[in-house]
Amino acid sequence: MSALVIEGGTPLRGRITAQGCKNSALAILAAAALFEDKVYLTNVPNIGDVRTMLSILRSLGYKINWGTGLTIKAGSTIKNHDLTQTGAGSIRGSLLFLGALLGRTGKVVLPMPGGCNIGTRPIDLHLKGLSMMGAEIKIQSGNIIGEAPSGLKGAYIYLDFPSVGATENLMIAASLASGDTTIENAAQDQQVVELGKFLMSSGVKIRGLGTKVIHIKGKKSLDSVTFRIAGDSIEAGTYLIAGAATRGVVTVDGVDVTFLRPLLFKLQEAGMEITVTNGHEISVDAYDRPKGITIKTMPFPGFPTDLQPMMSSFLTLAEGRSVIVETVYDGRMGHVNELRKMGAQIDVEGNTAIIDGVQKLSGAPVVASNLRAGASLVVAGLSAEGRTIVYGLEHVMRGYSALEEKLRALGAKVKLVSDEEAAQIA
Ligand code: UD1
Repeated sequence: MSALVIEGGTPLRGRITAQGCKNSALAILAAAALFEDKVYLTNVPNIGDVRTMLSILRSLGYKINWGTGLTIKAGSTIKNHDLTQTGAGSIRGSLLFLGALLGRTGKVVLPMPGGCNIGTRPIDLHLKGLSMMGAEIKIQSGNIIGEAPSGLKGAYIYLDFPSVGATENLMIAASLASGDTTIENAAQDQQVVELGKFLMSSGVKIRGLGTKVIHIKGKKSLDSVTFRIAGDSIEAGTYLIAGAATRGVVTVDGVDVTFLRPLLFKLQEAGMEITVTNGHEISVDAYDRPKGITIKTMPFPGFPTDLQPMMSSFLTLAEGRSVIVETVYDGRMGHVNELRKMGAQIDVEGNTAIIDGVQKLSGAPVVASNLRAGASLVVAGLSAEGRTIVYGLEHVMRGYSALEEKLRALGAKVKLVSDEEAAQIA
């Protein structure tokens, strides 16, 4: 268990490079279980969730070699289709092995997935879609048990909601299925587009990537792939928000601005100056106090729910009132109570937060209840006066590589410590 000690109040200044996208990496690592040969990936972020996915691949018989790049080499056959003893239950990304193993071996046993505690997270869309492709799936003793006795077949699937995970699971399953699959009302997020590009470079034919209707033509076996994972828009967005919240000037490079536009528009609306160079280098300059704004989270290209908690921290210091409406998750206000301990004035009604901006936050011991809630507390601690200790930092480390080093490179006074050390400092 670890904590981040932050001596707040220093404007962040400088430049960092975005890590490889966490959520793209998770989808692509699950899709690696479709391959009978080799996958070589670069720019894979060294974070907890990625390490969990690699240990699952190892249990399937894949050889992993992670140096400059990451090589995933298949054994002669998949050794195992039961993932109940692999740590798969601790992260959400493991759910994508459902489509991958049904496609590859026709059999899978998976523990119900874990991940962030941000409300109810049903998996019905995954199961309905896979059933339409010929899978027989039941939930028994906390496990998902799937079989595709006659193999998976292409299908026309309409998603009630553009679920990122369901879109990915079905794309992965469709890659080795016989015939064509269409996913209507598909998600358009960065990780979906990148997964699609990865599958296309293995010879799968995909049309409509980045739109609401995706067509996939399955293939008998996938060609070896070398693929570079693009920069992480949520990580990049977090550092841009931290720059804005501390009234600094921060540049993030190595990220496609397409996936950050919803954030950049909102930062501009709040009065921040944004500069984009060459489509992949983004700067925020916050010389004035931000103004209160309204944000409603929506599936991409709407405002990303994963940046909502950090934007909430930023807006606690805005002039006037901000309103945040969370429409994607029903329990993503876990950061609010902790922000109140730092002097933020926030009222929550259901999934709406009403933030009345204050002149300053003051440092306090706070607890991260999940990944992005933790990131929002780090943003708040950096912009607060005095010392903040963010406990539960292991949640944040699931998604941010080199957090301490990157913050220090921007001039932040931060130290990663054990809980015991934090207790002595407090
Ligand atoms: C992914 C991201 C996560 C992000 C989310 C939304 C990964 C590993 N995680 O999560 O960081 O917050 O997209 O941008 O990429 N839903 C159903 N039934 C389903 C599936 C989803 O009702 O079968 C609902 C969920 O409860 C939730 C909403 O749809 O309310 C969004 O979920 P989804 O888009 O599936 O998110 P994830 O893929 O889990």
